[in-house]
Amino acid sequence: MVAEYVINGRKTLAGKIRVGGAKNAILPVLAAVLLTDKPVVLHDCPHLLDVEKTIMILKAIGCTIKREDRDLIIDPSNINSWVIPESYVREIRSSIIFLGSMLARMGRAQTTYPGGCEIGQRPIDLHLKGLKQLGVEIDESNGYLACEASKLEGATVHLDYPSVGATENIMLAAVKAKGRTVIHNAAKEPEIVDLQNFINAMGGDIRGAGTNTVVIEGGRKLDEVEYTIIPDRIVAGTYMVAAAITGGDILIENVIPEHLQSIIYKLRETGCVVQAQGLSIRVKGKYRLRAVEHTKTLPYPGFPTDMQAQFTSLLSVTRGTSIISETIFENRYRHVPELVRMGANIRVDGQTAIIHGVRGLKGTRVTAKDLRGGAALVLAGLRAEGQTIVENISYIERGYENLDSALNSLGADITKVE
Ligand code: EPZ
Repeated sequence: MVAEYVINGRKTLAGKIRVGGAKNAILPVLAAVLLTDKPVVLHDCPHLLDVEKTIMILKAIGCTIKREDRDLIIDPSNINSWVIPESYVREIRSSIIFLGSMLARMGRAQTTYPGGCEIGQRPIDLHLKGLKQLGVEIDESNGYLACEASKLEGATVHLDYPSVGATENIMLAAVKAKGRTVIHNAAKEPEIVDLQNFINAMGGDIRGAGTNTVVIEGGRKLDEVEYTIIPDRIVAGTYMVAAAITGGDILIENVIPEHLQSIIYKLRETGCVVQAQGLSIRVKGKYRLRAVEHTKTLPYPGFPTDMQAQFTSLLSVTRGTSIISETIFENRYRHVPELVRMGANIRVDGQTAIIHGVRGLKGTRVTAKDLRGGAALVLAGLRAEGQTIVENISYIERGYENLDSALNSLGADITKVE
């Protein structure tokens, strides 16, 4: 049987909880490890399925890696393959960013198309277009991607869309390109800034991450590095919604409030009290919060698509009607039918969800269809009358470390059933 969470709802959460390193920061940083042949030590690395699978990729191509709780000690001196194992690419599509760092390290890279996933097609055309501008030749004739770069040349790349992964892939390859690379319309997510800071800590020279223009001076030799990953703003946002939806009072520690601005303001619009205190945020919810007229997911610093499902759960029990527009991914409302089975009143019309708030939800058996949608069902279960059983929690474990015990430490009643 696939594992599930059994949640006894209507517990008010209170207390404090610490957020760990960000999944979407450590994944590109692990790819960047290939840029040096010297030792790398990473701190605050979360225990997540996606991280463990990425570590397997590094081991499969020759790295030795030791995990000591939240520290990773990596020796990337002996890379003996440029083929990113197909089995891993299909399981963890973000491994496509190994293309850039593998090309930088080995001058060649081979992998397969990562393919779509539960939330959308996830094309990589912008990645490939940018890499080609750096001089990479890509042969797609045999159903996989065979990439060669006898020499990487710096270039000016304009991204048609501020893609996070494409920005990261081009940055990684540009580090070893001859001369300067400029990326216009780059993604501005904090995880891009973390990647820049990690590469610069190795001796790289990247400027502008966090703005829409990133400048990479190529050709520098990179050295050993010890680095701590930034906290996970989406895990933090999920805990903030947990306080809001249960009418609780939670202090969330080890956050960077600046990364959470859009979530802070949206929760304040519902009537929550949200106070940033240094590297912590305190959220006080209420049992009947206000609906929010319109929420639109946008590239950073807009409201993050990775928080849309969690926020939909909250809005489903607020007073009034809310509208959400999901502008980033084409299939990111798969949690809605499950919420409706719990008594929510939500109608999806294309990329828009119209949510009429209800007084309460009723626990029942629901199924996680993707990572953030699964987290949204857990949040709904915290609020619901009676027992909610969330199936397929392996989706959730891709992005949350022991979400059950984390929420139980705040007063929730969740049992994991293997
Ligand atoms: C990253 O995915 C995150 N994953 C996602 O988090 C996040 O939702 C997304 O950025 C947006 O913030 C990681 O960092 C590992 P994109 P990524 O390229 O890089 C289109 C989670 O829940 N696009 O910015 O794949 C694409 O189809 C995950 O933690 C192209 O058309 O996101 C999508 O509509 C889910 N062509 C939009 O851009 C391309 O070549 C955003 O994608 C690339 C992307």
